[in-house]
Amino acid sequence: MIPNGNLYTNLSAYYDLFCADVDYAGQCATTSRIFECFAQTDGRQYLDLACGTGAHIQIMQTLGFTATGLDNSTEMLAQAAKRCPDAAFVLSDMSAFETADRYDLITCFLYSIHYSHPVCALKQTLKRVYDALQPGGVFIFNAVDINGITNRHVVTSHAVAENSQLTFVSGWCYQGEGETMDLHLSITREPAKEPGITIQNDSWQDQHVMTAVVFTSLSAWLLSIGFESTFLEHDYDCLQPWNGSSFNVLVVACKPR
Ligand SMILES: C[S@@+](CC[C@H](N)C(=O)[O-])C[C@H]1O[C@@H](n2cnc3c(N)ncnc32)[C@H](O)[C@@H]1O
Repeated sequence: MIPNGNLYTNLSAYYDLFCADVDYAGQCATTSRIFECFAQTDGRQYLDLACGTGAHIQIMQTLGFTATGLDNSTEMLAQAAKRCPDAAFVLSDMSAFETADRYDLITCFLYSIHYSHPVCALKQTLKRVYDALQPGGVFIFNAVDINGITNRHVVTSHAVAENSQLTFVSGWCYQGEGETMDLHLSITREPAKEPGITIQNDSWQDQHVMTAVVFTSLSAWLLSIGFESTFLEHDYDCLQPWNGSSFNVLVVACKPR
């Protein structure tokens, strides 16, 4: 048994199985639609922050975007480069990236913006995004309000690979105060059962430190940087304005022309 691992380093080969239930095609279709509604640029230069194994990049390329992926994990970027040989990739912390290029669309999916930790790093990420956008460009990301994570939220999914049953569990944990929330991840691999053979399970535990935010603060930070932002309900099937009380949003932050 290996008790610890990191899903983005020595367990990166499991990442896509972990996300087997994520509707990447639907998210990209909605992102492209939001871009068409909000962007005031002529181009389709696209940057995906915390791009992981490149699932969004691969689809956004088919939707006409010229894509660059940024991530701070060499292992995740290696998988992304294999998947998207025509895309460019940058190894960097998202709060510290520097680029002379200007993008029409920047995204950060799967709540990865919360990896900018602590709050001062998150504000730096927002500022770097602003600087990297073309005037009229759009930043789209999802975020969760800490008031929605007062108890532990757990999501479990399953996958079958190489004759093994894999169980993935993820959950945010918040102590009730401060600007840090933790993401707990676990993977269990159970080999297929064969009569008369003792089964040895493998399991890994992983924990990530993330920034807790409240939407009123997030909105104020975006405004102070110069963004015009719109909060939408976190529903990739039906775009509607945030109702002001749910804790899960899609943020559309536009850099004025
Ligand atoms: C939950 S995964 C999301 C991957 C991809 N966006 C997706 O939707 O499948 C989070 C990714 O963020 C990357 N990451 C974590 N902290 C980061 C940071 N500070 N700067 C850049 N990338 C980071 C991890 O390496 C990982 O690939």
